[in-house]
Amino acid sequence: MNCRINEYRWHRVKRETNIDKRLERFDQKLEEMGVRIKDANDLKVRDDVFDEITLLSLYKLVHKKWLSVLGGSISTGKEANVFYGERDGVPIAIKIYRIRTANFTTMSSYIVGDRRFSHVKKAKKELIFAWTRKEFSNLARAREAGVAVPEPFVWDRNILIMSFMGDGETPWPQIRNADLPDPADAYARIIRDIDILYNKAELVHADLSEFNILYGDQPYLIDMGQSVTRDHPRALPFLMRDIKNINRFFKNRCETQDEVEIFNAVTGLNVAEP
Ligand SMILES: Nc1ncnc2c1ncn2[C@@H]1O[C@H](COP(=O)(O)OP(=O)(O)OP(=O)(O)O)[C@@H](O)[C@H]1O
Ligand SMILES: [Mg+2]
Repeated sequence: MNCRINEYRWHRVKRETNIDKRLERFDQKLEEMGVRIKDANDLKVRDDVFDEITLLSLYKLVHKKWLSVLGGSISTGKEANVFYGERDGVPIAIKIYRIRTANFTTMSSYIVGDRRFSHVKKAKKELIFAWTRKEFSNLARAREAGVAVPEPFVWDRNILIMSFMGDGETPWPQIRNADLPDPADAYARIIRDIDILYNKAELVHADLSEFNILYGDQPYLIDMGQSVTRDHPRALPFLMRDIKNINRFFKNRCETQDEVEIFNAVTGLNVAEP
């Protein structure tokens, strides 16, 4: 018994030492490349995120001068981690999709049916890279159409770098935690963004809720990896779900428009039921 405990401890210590060594090497290499590491992150977070492939991508982005400071982790989500960073003194957000622990099955249902990604191989890594590229291209399309979203700068494999939505090093709160000075105005802007997204960018966000909207001087939509083109077979149900989520959130905060009315106005259809 005792012996087993010791063996277990020994393995744990060995594993922790290995992680330490690996991350030490990683810090050293980044520092040699001129990157400043701000805030040593939780070892576990860094070990989950920075596998060999991710490190290679990060080195490549550093080499191309896309980042000069790697800061602390802002968020650990279901599929991705977001880190604070800087490029020549300007804050950036670094979103890294985890290769080992991403939810592969959910992801593939959004890629299948999107003609832009029909050639993507079904291997997990390939899918995650395609997902990252998809988020980049969705944000770029949305922004070009005039929707309030972060500006995407560059992507490499599973890493996406975009403009930082926040004050100083603090990200703006998700709208669910924000003090809204004028809820009716925020609501109107979000409904207008859904409309522009559908009619100009020809996209449906497909995961819109109070979790994926940051509130600064106004609402900003984020997290567009799962967003689909209008011709995706599930685009309309996704759109209806987005509208319902927004209405549910604003129902007690300001006057809301009927969800079917919004849906019909956005799509130009004339459905009677949600
Ligand atoms: N451009 C940005 N600027 C500042 N903070 C950001 C930015 N993008 C994301 N964040 C922060 O990270 C959090 C999570 O971001 P996001 O919703 O894109 O990822 P996620 O929900 O973890 O993704 P997934 O659910 O796909 O794993 C946001 O709520 C916000 O706090
Ligand atoms: Mg999110």
